[in-house]
Amino acid sequence: MPSDPESHAVGAHDGEPHGDGAVLVERRNGVGIVTLNRPDALNAINMAVRGGLTRACRALEADPEIRAVLIRAAGERGFCVGADIKEFRPVTSAVAARRTDPAIAYVDAVAALGKPTIAAIHGFCLGGGFEIALACDIRIASADALFGLPEINLGLIPGAGGTQRLPRLIGVGRALDLMLTGERFGAEEALRLGVISRLAPSQGALAEQSLALAETVAAKSPTAAAYVKEAVMAGADLDLKDGIALERTLFTLLLTTEDRMEAAAAFREKRRPVFTGH
Ligand code: COA
Repeated sequence: MPSDPESHAVGAHDGEPHGDGAVLVERRNGVGIVTLNRPDALNAINMAVRGGLTRACRALEADPEIRAVLIRAAGERGFCVGADIKEFRPVTSAVAARRTDPAIAYVDAVAALGKPTIAAIHGFCLGGGFEIALACDIRIASADALFGLPEINLGLIPGAGGTQRLPRLIGVGRALDLMLTGERFGAEEALRLGVISRLAPSQGALAEQSLALAETVAAKSPTAAAYVKEAVMAGADLDLKDGIALERTLFTLLLTTEDRMEAAAAFREKRRPVFTGH
């Protein structure tokens, strides 16, 4: 995806850099647009990306104007090829590893967003890049997207949530196949497997469609959107009875909101609702 020149001006929009320009943040129509920006390294995840993505998510979560977050990447070759292998170092002891290990705070930060998140994926989407996408709510990809969890080829396993999120998304058997072989698969296959829910014909179409999708989601009641997300994500860890009880609680809470009355009024008056989150 060609990088958007506008986005380069906004890396320090919040008064803090989001990782030496390795992650850019821009705001448009209620959408926080996060761009992974190391195109020369195919957006490999180094420390600057980890820190930048974490700070970007926290800043957007705290911004009341932002109602959806779109994560995309600069450069035509890909979304992200995973951990920066050039930063790999031998680990001398478990204690030393724990001290220096950046862990997976950057993926946790994406997953922790209470606002709806959308990953716009083009080209390579491998390893930790795939895991960033898996931590998002909606995945849309262009036809050239190429997915894979190649950690097995490096003597590792996916370490940023992949072993847990992928089986929950597409089933244990399919996820094990992909993780044990490390094989790459294309966008059509990703759609068939349910890894993505939308497919754009080209990178240009992806840029347009992913932003339009994010703007559509951002125009909904932010409280209802957050509750959908909470019901589905928290409910996935509950048995059916407790999940239904959670849904009932959240549904009942929404009955008390101004947004709910506004939506009904807008329907009666044949106009678009204006949601405030109250
Ligand atoms: N970490 C650091 N740099 C990476 C990288 C990674 N994970 N993947 C690619 N790059 C860099 C390459 O080193 C190269 O930079 P250079 O020109 O300065 O050497 C640049 O990105 C382009 O990659 P290159 O390998 O030349 O392109 P390619 O088209 O031949 O292959 C890939 C592309 C993605 C298939 C290949 O780079 C690859 O397999 N990368 C590793 C992916 C991986 O295992 N990720 C999981 C990590 S846990």
